[in-house]
Amino acid sequence: AVPDDHVIVLFGATGDLARRKLLPGLFHLAKAGLLPDRYRIVGSAPAQAALSDDEFRKRARESVAEFGRSRPEGKAWQRFEESLSFGAADPEDPGPLLEAVRDAEQALGGSPRRLFHLAVPPAAFASVIELLGATGLADGARVIVEKPFGTDLPSARALNATIHSVFDESRVFRIDHFLGKESVDNILALRFANGLLEPVWNRDHISHVQIDVPEKIGIEGRAQFFEGTGTFRDMIVTHLFQLLGFVAMEPPTTLAAKPLRDEKEKVFQSMRSLDPAHVVRGQYEGYRDEPGVDPRSDTETFVALRVELDNWRWAGVPFYLRSGKSLAEGRHIVTLGFREPALRMFPLTARHRTRTNELVIDFDDPGRIAARFLVKDPGPAMRLSDAEMVFSYAESFNTMHALEGYERLILDAMLGDQSLFTRSDGIERLWEVSTPLLDDPPPVEPYAPGSWGPDGINRLIAPYHWSLPGRR
Ligand code: BG6
Repeated sequence: AVPDDHVIVLFGATGDLARRKLLPGLFHLAKAGLLPDRYRIVGSAPAQAALSDDEFRKRARESVAEFGRSRPEGKAWQRFEESLSFGAADPEDPGPLLEAVRDAEQALGGSPRRLFHLAVPPAAFASVIELLGATGLADGARVIVEKPFGTDLPSARALNATIHSVFDESRVFRIDHFLGKESVDNILALRFANGLLEPVWNRDHISHVQIDVPEKIGIEGRAQFFEGTGTFRDMIVTHLFQLLGFVAMEPPTTLAAKPLRDEKEKVFQSMRSLDPAHVVRGQYEGYRDEPGVDPRSDTETFVALRVELDNWRWAGVPFYLRSGKSLAEGRHIVTLGFREPALRMFPLTARHRTRTNELVIDFDDPGRIAARFLVKDPGPAMRLSDAEMVFSYAESFNTMHALEGYERLILDAMLGDQSLFTRSDGIERLWEVSTPLLDDPPPVEPYAPGSWGPDGINRLIAPYHWSLPGRR
């Protein structure tokens, strides 16, 4: 499906997210023929960061050249570039933005849809929403709101109330780009299109689950954002909890937005409040020396924690989550650890003692799935070795046409499909279960850059083991 004609307004157009992901992503959608026949993209920012149309086009060209998958050249680029314009907006003076939107709508003719993308820091969401309401720009429009949505339960509630005073929930698209990743969406196919795995996808067969997203990168000059956010709010309460929702949900009655999101929200309802005793907070050595970071900062750059679900499918099965900056590798992995067989008939060497069967879903783009099990070594003796069955997207498909998370989700928002967006009740519930941790966070433990995190992580997961870094 191709969306209706659109005027897309990008708040935060001069920011890091627009530069790295959104402008390159929009150009990729244009090249792939997935933008509407007729569209305009209006960049916006506060007056002190205002750009002329030409400056905005130049910036877009540079960002596509640096971060895009296709070069900013040829007819496709020319057409995309011509669609770009800029209109600054401040609560006291929305004039330039109003003018830019009006010009864009006139250029398209008819009545194009408006889509606002709020790629701004969380503290700025409310004032932008209020501006959209006060100016009438919000009428009939859809809005994409970035994460993190609030910083705790009261602020998330207040933000939802502000949004709902201007936008009906059916027009709100809270974005979490992990849910647009091809291989995250594939968790639904893997579980519900096959008869192979779902019968064992429960507490009878699975001993524990790991959701592991270590990052090699540090804070990449984002001190201001990061100091006020930290890894728990940046990664856990958002990306990793959403992934947990997909891994743990019951089969929805259909894949339509409502049943799918209902089932995910039920997982969040069944989440037990986080216990600070089962949380490891870390900070990489040298973080306090980064420009813009408070030399006494208590902000965490790493979190590992145990989550428990009080429902019939998962009672007693711990979920271990980990994410952090400046770690040994950048990976995206979900591991299901299976229970041991009832009887151990085979002598296991120390090498195998801890390695039970595992299903590892690797959702690095483009992703792979591996089943790990034990096989007999060839030869007269009964000796076991580790083996792996692997499905790889890159080897099985031409992934050239795959969309990245943001691309997929911006397309879905233009089409009005909310399936892969988060909902107000779910988000509020996630802040609710996080409250004990936010109120009483354990102290940050230092860890060496390039490691897998502070020492406490192995105690946290015992008697199991992190499936990264690979074979022990
Ligand atoms: C963003 C976080 O939402 O996700 C970043 O703000 C993080 O801190 C990024 O690096 C990770 O996304 P991806 O898709 O590169 O794993």
